[in-house]
Amino acid sequence: MQQVQKQPTLIRVMNDQIPRIQVQVDRFREVNGTKPVIVEHRETIILSERYRLCEQIKSGGQGSVYFALDLRFHERVVVKIAHHIMDAIANSRFVKEAATLALLSHPNLVKGFGFATFDNGILFFPMEYASKRTLWTYLQEHKDGAIPEIGIPLLLQLCDGLSELHRNGIIHRDLKPSNLLLTQNDTKLKITDFGLLRYLVEVEDPIAIVGTRDYMAPEQSAGSDVTSSSDIYSFGMIMYQLLCGHPPSSQYFERPRTIRSDISRKTEEVIMHALAKLPEARFQDVEQLKSALESSILERPRFRYWG
Ligand SMILES: Nc1ncnc2c1ncn2[C@@H]1O[C@H](COP(=O)(O)OP(=O)(O)O)[C@@H](O)[C@H]1O
Ligand SMILES: [Mg+2]
Repeated sequence: MQQVQKQPTLIRVMNDQIPRIQVQVDRFREVNGTKPVIVEHRETIILSERYRLCEQIKSGGQGSVYFALDLRFHERVVVKIAHHIMDAIANSRFVKEAATLALLSHPNLVKGFGFATFDNGILFFPMEYASKRTLWTYLQEHKDGAIPEIGIPLLLQLCDGLSELHRNGIIHRDLKPSNLLLTQNDTKLKITDFGLLRYLVEVEDPIAIVGTRDYMAPEQSAGSDVTSSSDIYSFGMIMYQLLCGHPPSSQYFERPRTIRSDISRKTEEVIMHALAKLPEARFQDVEQLKSALESSILERPRFRYWG
């Protein structure tokens, strides 16, 4: 019999109606790696009479992410909870994130299970449990990056997820390794964290600079108009990091092939093209990026021996 974990996690959930609720939530352990089983029960929060909150995965700027048990299907899901006292912009972003995730359905996008709902003093939405691992975790373990045979198939999936977003008129605006979930032994990738998404038709405060600076396109960090091309730049940053092991060091970064000889010339060209400073100098769209990436696989790198 496996040891039952004894410590309940203590979390604080706050909102503007009830100033502070202190909650001890359930812990669960995995059985056969899939179904969660509740092993300790103190005070339970069940949202929408359906989602029992379990351990916290992360507390971030926009909200907190929890494992939860879907009592209807006895499946593990993930629940994202808005921070207490959010301003109107943050609130509408949260509602928009939930609605977008629920409406989209694509293997490379995390699936939302419902709109944002207010219950138990908590604004939340449920989504599929994808994985504990992110591309960030992967990069922590692979300091030299991934070999192209592993990295490029993941990048092609990132193209597919991104292309689905852009086809629906959505810009992600916060693509980075910690927002890319890896499943099935790091062979499948899903984009998550749509907290900063923007619909192309939407008019937003033009000086609002949102996103993560390290992965942001120059026009995005300058507060100029952000288009789907800004996501392509972030893609270039992720691709550079995934294949070289670290992000570009500065504006005048080393060319990828000087760092890793197993990167082909064409693959390097894809990175450089995605990272062009001017949006109009980048790939026109994700389809163009994807086909360049696909054809780059066919080229053999100069220093590589295939046996
Ligand atoms: N659907 C999911 N399945 C599993 N883990 C997830 C899921 N969505 C998010 N996470 C985990 O929670 C972390 C934070 O979620 P995210 O949506 O990126 O919120 P934040 O706005 O705080 O960055 C992610 O980096 C990832 O580790
Ligand atoms: Mg995130």
